[in-house]
Amino acid sequence: MKKLRILVAVHETLIPPDSLDGYAEREIDEWRTEYDVVSHLKRAGHEVRCLGLLDSLTELRATIQDWKPDLVFNLLEEFDGIAKHDQHVVAFLELLRQPYSGCNPRGLMLSRDKVLSKQLLAYHRIPTPQFAVFPKAKRVVVPRKLRYPLFVKSATDDASLGIAQASVCADAAALRERIQFVHEQTGSDALVEEYVEGREIYVGALGNDRLSVLPPWEMNFGTLPEGQAPIATRKAKWDRRYQQRHGISTGPAESLGEPTLAALGRLTRRIYRALHLTGYARMDFRLRNDGTIFVLEANANPNLAAAEDFARSALAAGIGYDELLGRILALGLGYQAAWRAAEA
Ligand SMILES: Nc1ncnc2c1ncn2[C@@H]1O[C@H](COP(=O)(O)OP(=O)(O)O)[C@@H](O)[C@H]1O
Ligand SMILES: [Mg+2]
Repeated sequence: MKKLRILVAVHETLIPPDSLDGYAEREIDEWRTEYDVVSHLKRAGHEVRCLGLLDSLTELRATIQDWKPDLVFNLLEEFDGIAKHDQHVVAFLELLRQPYSGCNPRGLMLSRDKVLSKQLLAYHRIPTPQFAVFPKAKRVVVPRKLRYPLFVKSATDDASLGIAQASVCADAAALRERIQFVHEQTGSDALVEEYVEGREIYVGALGNDRLSVLPPWEMNFGTLPEGQAPIATRKAKWDRRYQQRHGISTGPAESLGEPTLAALGRLTRRIYRALHLTGYARMDFRLRNDGTIFVLEANANPNLAAAEDFARSALAAGIGYDELLGRILALGLGYQAAWRAAEA
């Protein structure tokens, strides 16, 4: 691949050092993704600069104008503390006619909004759990059509924020309490879904027009204490000690069977299109014992750390980390933003 000038946009507190030497694992965990991406891009011979962003676009604009990067590698997951605002930064890049990696603003907007995603997926008859939305500051009236156990989460937060065993509610009292918790803790509306008992499967995909679907990945919940539901709580996802204690791990989803494999691939493609995703994304599914598949959510720009699920599932498909980053660069350069047509 041609050597590129790449500006890596990261959160201001996550600018990675040049080397891991002298840092504790806990510190490294914070900026592991940024470190992996920046160090590999450099090693591949690209000219790389890292720019930390907090709440201002001034420096981003100035750097783009002065340094003229071929591509902005977008590793932002928020702007000014607001998760949804990364889409506006990407929109700003489009206004500057600046190519960038990862998902376009429309795909980010649609996929970050779990309720809007589910409404769109329902239109396309893509199965997602039955649901209801409980806006902040409104009286909780539980629709009769929903069947317990119910699962309560924030309508917009991700990374399992606010997700714990108490998210699974067996009755109206527990449900009310958890809805209130989500309102207070996350400041967002609460999304209540029917709880889907089954395996937890993730499927990654890469592409703009033509898609590559990566092999299904599974979260194995190990030895859960009595009465605990196998769900990706905040702890199960991020607490290394907790994972080790309970034998929680992720890896290739074994013995799915041909029909299920094919269905997961098909659904992943349809979801990717329905939500206007580009670049790379990962779908979260639950697979019931009877073979029924439900999509929980689509994650645009999933975590790109080399040891995380997305890169590991790419590797399982024979796409090494450098190649993965190379493909993401190529997709960013090739994305047909509206301004391209205006320039043609
Ligand atoms: N309807 C549901 N039924 C069963 N488990 C669920 C349901 N919704 C969410 N979960 C569990 O909670 C986890 C996080 O939910 P998800 O919708 O993927 O949000 P996040 O954006 O935090 O990843 C899922 O990976 C799954 O384990
Ligand atoms: Mg998820």
